[in-house]
Amino acid sequence: MAQLWGGRFTKETDQLVYQFNASISFDQKFFGQDIEGSIAHVVMLAKQGILTKEEKDLILKGLTGIRQDVEEGRLAITEEYEDIHSFVEAKLIERIGDAGKKLHTGRSRNDQVALDMRLYTRLEVLYVDELVKELLCTLLRIMEENMETYMPGFTHLQKAQPVTLAHHIGAYFEMFKRDRSRLKSIYHRMNYCPLGAGALAGTTYPLDRNYTAALLGFEGPTLNSMDSVSDRDYVIEFLSALSTIMMHLSRFCEEIIIWNSDEYRFVEIDDAYSTGSSIMPQKKNPDIAELVRGKTGRVYGALLSILTTMKGIPLAYNKDMQEDKELTFDAIDTVKGCLALFEGMVRTMKFRKDVMERSAMRGFTNATDAADYLVVRGVPFRDAHGIIGRLVLTCIDKQCSIEDLSIEELKEISPVFEADLYDAISLKTCVGRRLTVGAPGKDAMQKVIEAQKEYLTRDWQDEEGIYMTKDKESER
Ligand code: ARG
Repeated sequence: MAQLWGGRFTKETDQLVYQFNASISFDQKFFGQDIEGSIAHVVMLAKQGILTKEEKDLILKGLTGIRQDVEEGRLAITEEYEDIHSFVEAKLIERIGDAGKKLHTGRSRNDQVALDMRLYTRLEVLYVDELVKELLCTLLRIMEENMETYMPGFTHLQKAQPVTLAHHIGAYFEMFKRDRSRLKSIYHRMNYCPLGAGALAGTTYPLDRNYTAALLGFEGPTLNSMDSVSDRDYVIEFLSALSTIMMHLSRFCEEIIIWNSDEYRFVEIDDAYSTGSSIMPQKKNPDIAELVRGKTGRVYGALLSILTTMKGIPLAYNKDMQEDKELTFDAIDTVKGCLALFEGMVRTMKFRKDVMERSAMRGFTNATDAADYLVVRGVPFRDAHGIIGRLVLTCIDKQCSIEDLSIEELKEISPVFEADLYDAISLKTCVGRRLTVGAPGKDAMQKVIEAQKEYLTRDWQDEEGIYMTKDKESER
């Protein structure tokens, strides 16, 4: 057991208590961020004259040496330390002696862990955003290739009106675009530096918090030290955004599972993204889509869990907050995995255009357009609705589509029908004439696709120079 706080204790910690309390098994995940934060802290302490230049150089050398040794496998992070902060400090003192004992001047583990967690999640927001962007690129390509791939649009999972595959996929494009904009705003809201808040009430050392914040790429320091050490809103917001991404992926997966079924056969998931059955030789299962759908519950669980953990915590730091980590890390890794796999599954999936089109032609998806045909020729809409209703009944009886009836049969139902009806209710016409903004008609769709393309050429991470921050972070 290696603890930072033995001084006022007369007994050893009970072994079970030690294990229950320790966090190193999971907080080693932000080892890199812990070192990064300590480096900035030490540079600031020296600038403020709180450490000498010699002490600073010694500590920086020690810290970078520890980082290199861990990264290159010469130094193992072992569980005899309570948490990653204790590990780094202990190793530093082991290596450089007394100067190492000055690292923690003007700092508490409370503001330290608040910083590490922020640095870690801040970077992950960017990685998740990149993965969503990659998915968007794939979706846009599918959209461009399928502007005239007709398929039924559904309400209540019943065929409603014809749309195109581009239009259907375009709905998800909008969802994932909103997900990115959520990530962007979360990034900005969380991008303030808690370091310097101390245990809860700041410190008496003349720290330059603006300077530390700038060194670490934050927009500024946080403005209330008690809030700084006890705020986990950014974790909750991030988990909420991740949950929404999973909800979108899950809906899409549900459709793919349905489309991939033998009853629909709209798509065929690639062999590389399917699995077989141990007993039924004919089976090819959409396990990946099912797993993504299933893992959604796990990410929601993390959100609900942390919301609940936080709701009863008085100011300022309380140990309950240690519970934010495992679930958040798991949720982030889960979402990243799901995004990458989902993108691959969709990219390699075969869309059976002929089956989709045939399906769009059955099920009277053109009934609304047939009613509109009558309306244009002077029949009041309510009457037209009734006439087409009877027409559909006749067709169900004869097991055919509206356009399979002869003009004579049609005229028996309404004398207003003429031979130009067939063209007016063809799939191409039904879809092509839907030209309001956001509708599936080719010209309307074309404009949206241009706008989406333009959207993908611009990138908020690029525009704000965040890629540079990220490169620096991975260099550090
Ligand atoms: N492992 C702790 C956490 O994750 C670090 C902060 C410890 N602070 C304290 N006062 N015990 O929250």
